[in-house]
Amino acid sequence: MKVCKAVIPAAGFGTRFLPATKAQPKEMLNVVDKPLIQYSVEEAVDSGIESIGVITSRGKSAIEDHFDISPELEHFLEEKKKLDLLEQIRRISNLAEFCYIRQKQALGLGHAILMAESFVGSEPFSVLLPDDIFDCEVPCIKQLLKIHQKYNATVIVLMRVDEEGMKKYGIVKSKQISERVFKVEDMVEKPGPRKAFSNLAILGRYVFTPKIFEMIKHTSPDHRGEIQITDAIRLLLEEEPVYGYLFEGNRYDCGDKLDYIQASLKLALKRPEFKEPLSELFIKNVDTNDNS
Ligand code: UTP
Repeated sequence: MKVCKAVIPAAGFGTRFLPATKAQPKEMLNVVDKPLIQYSVEEAVDSGIESIGVITSRGKSAIEDHFDISPELEHFLEEKKKLDLLEQIRRISNLAEFCYIRQKQALGLGHAILMAESFVGSEPFSVLLPDDIFDCEVPCIKQLLKIHQKYNATVIVLMRVDEEGMKKYGIVKSKQISERVFKVEDMVEKPGPRKAFSNLAILGRYVFTPKIFEMIKHTSPDHRGEIQITDAIRLLLEEEPVYGYLFEGNRYDCGDKLDYIQASLKLALKRPEFKEPLSELFIKNVDTNDNS
């Protein structure tokens, strides 16, 4: 069955980015020259997704405006003959069909995904977390969709991590079934190196069967009162097979301030117009007190 829908959870508080996220959504933070969430939307669209459900909350209306038409701006750009920019702006509002769904309280990622149940219906669907930017020849979610087509099951994206990564991400216990495909047996959230089953971490891309909704409803909140998607996937493992896929390409973590700064620099360095001036800046060994 072709997967046509994607869910992008964007209703969190973004506390690790405060004060930047006090009155602006984390998902709208700029990376090089577009907001974080646009990377996920473009990845979904490039993977054949037609309809995107964004989970939002109070204070997130900038996301809706960003993917809407902008008549005054378009008129202004047309008058000024800035046709390149005009085309870019128009393209954004035509990327996909958008649906915005409220999560009234930030009760965790699992809960946010559950809010999309009526949007998704009884079809398999994909989930993209906007904090992760994937830069891959074949879009990351497209790689997962291919595995989903083969096994007709839930697929989560995996990446090998070091000991630091074992403190930061969910880690899976699995059986390898081919070079990049793993059958997941168990998973644990941020175990640290001593308790980790492996060095295979779960990142922010998933293709779920609709059964996940039932599992989320049976998932108890954690010690912080949040319903975690990892716990719901553990319940799903008792009912259905779940596969992990070691994706091909690069991934940039934009989840906290340091990772975000690093990701922004690495992605800017990949752009021909910024590569030389930025490299020069680093060769000069940036002095932050320098006004020149
Ligand atoms: P994060 O945990 O990275 O985002 O969730 P956060 O909670 O906003 O950030 P911190 O930890 O406080 O700094 C990953 C994605 O899931 C969404 C977030 O908006 C983010 O895009 N999310 C998280 C929800 O939609 N609802 C939630 O209850 C929690």
